[in-house]
Amino acid sequence: MTGHTEHNMLETILQYIGKVEGVRKIDAALILLAEMGRDLVNADRCTLWMFDKQKEELWTKVAHGIDRISMPATTGIAGVAVQSGDTVIVNDPYRDTRFNQEIDRQTGYTTRSILAVPIKNSRGEVLGVFQTINKKSAAGKFEESDIKFLKLASTYAGEAIDAAKLNEEIEETQRDIIFALAEAGETRSKETGNHVKRVSEYCKLLALRSCLPKREAELLKLAAPMHDIGKIAIPDAVLLKPGRLDPAEFDIMKTHAENGYAILKNSARPILKAAATVAREHHERYDGKGYPRGLKGEDIHIFGRICAIADVFDALGSDRVYKKAWPLEKIVEEFKAQSGAQFDPKLMETFLTHIDEFVAIREQFRDEM
Ligand code: C2E
Ligand code: SIN
Ligand code: SIN
Ligand code: SIN
Ligand code: FE
Ligand code: FE
Repeated sequence: MTGHTEHNMLETILQYIGKVEGVRKIDAALILLAEMGRDLVNADRCTLWMFDKQKEELWTKVAHGIDRISMPATTGIAGVAVQSGDTVIVNDPYRDTRFNQEIDRQTGYTTRSILAVPIKNSRGEVLGVFQTINKKSAAGKFEESDIKFLKLASTYAGEAIDAAKLNEEIEETQRDIIFALAEAGETRSKETGNHVKRVSEYCKLLALRSCLPKREAELLKLAAPMHDIGKIAIPDAVLLKPGRLDPAEFDIMKTHAENGYAILKNSARPILKAAATVAREHHERYDGKGYPRGLKGEDIHIFGRICAIADVFDALGSDRVYKKAWPLEKIVEEFKAQSGAQFDPKLMETFLTHIDEFVAIREQFRDEM
């Protein structure tokens, strides 16, 4: 194949770099990078295998496939490239004993040529392998120029994968820390960790049903578990009091909103910033009679208005030291009565329209008795 000049190779790479930068999940990056490899060398197929050193496995994600697929890291030509760290080119696979014919047998596809280039990070560690199959040219064979282009792509992929991995790791770490902190807060108030999970899921669902962008909904989901983190500063005598709080005690209790905000406000991380807002505003009321600041209507951040509904839905449906769980009909009645007073009426309408979905989440994360 001679149609590809270095110039349009570069164009292809730049075009994909733009796309890859927009994705933060490694699975999505793998699919895009594989498409890039396929276009660059004009192959029929391209797979980007990731090397899992611990499991000695190669895994990948195919477009539209739900799950990752995997195979032993010693399998086939891809395995040879990973183990040796070198490029492998095979233009007559059925005469090459390293080729694993099993996959063709299973898929009915006929492999005529394979090019496999290992992907390394800046420290030279093998992260995976680019494998292109069946050169689309008259001769049907991969050539030196293909190696050059795929190596270029693999250098870039190495960096992109490192970055995506780091991103995922940071997000996972944050998620872990947030749940650990939030659950620590829960334990003291004798509520199960599932409360935090439910409120978090309700928030995301209500955000999505209210047409917030998916990323915002996801951000709120990650932030919501922290809404009551300020309760860690509330004395046991108040927090764990079996009966109703008197006005002085309730004043103490109310400080949990501003306390939570104080704990979280100094972080620059988007998740913790959102968490600070949610902690501060989840007890504001739409009619302005809430606390701590008595904000009104849309002066209350949308995350705060959403979390208010999610939190009360869960609090009313659960036993507390101070009350028994309410039946669903009574909760719905209360929600209708409080629409426009305690709660944002538009959000409440959306919530009640989709109440079955919220009940399903409650069932899914039910507390163990
Ligand atoms: P929580 O138990 O998670 O309740 C969260 C919110 O759900 C409450 O915010 C309130 O808006 C709503 N909620 C809970 N139970 C009921 C109820 O029986 N009736 C109605 N109408 N709404 C209810 P709120 O009132 O600002 O309370 C904040 C937190 O203060 C509560 O979180 C709970 O930890 C504590 N708390 C409130 N009242 C009492 C009480 O009488 N005794 C004790 N021990 N704690 C209380
Ligand atoms: C192999 O690398 O040996 C398998 C090639 C294929 O996927 O068909
Ligand atoms: C808590 O999270 O500790 C209190 C329950 C709630 O937020 O509804
Ligand atoms: C509460 O203050 O959380 C409970 C209010 C109520 O029982 O009506
Ligand atoms: Fe609260
Ligand atoms: Fe809560």
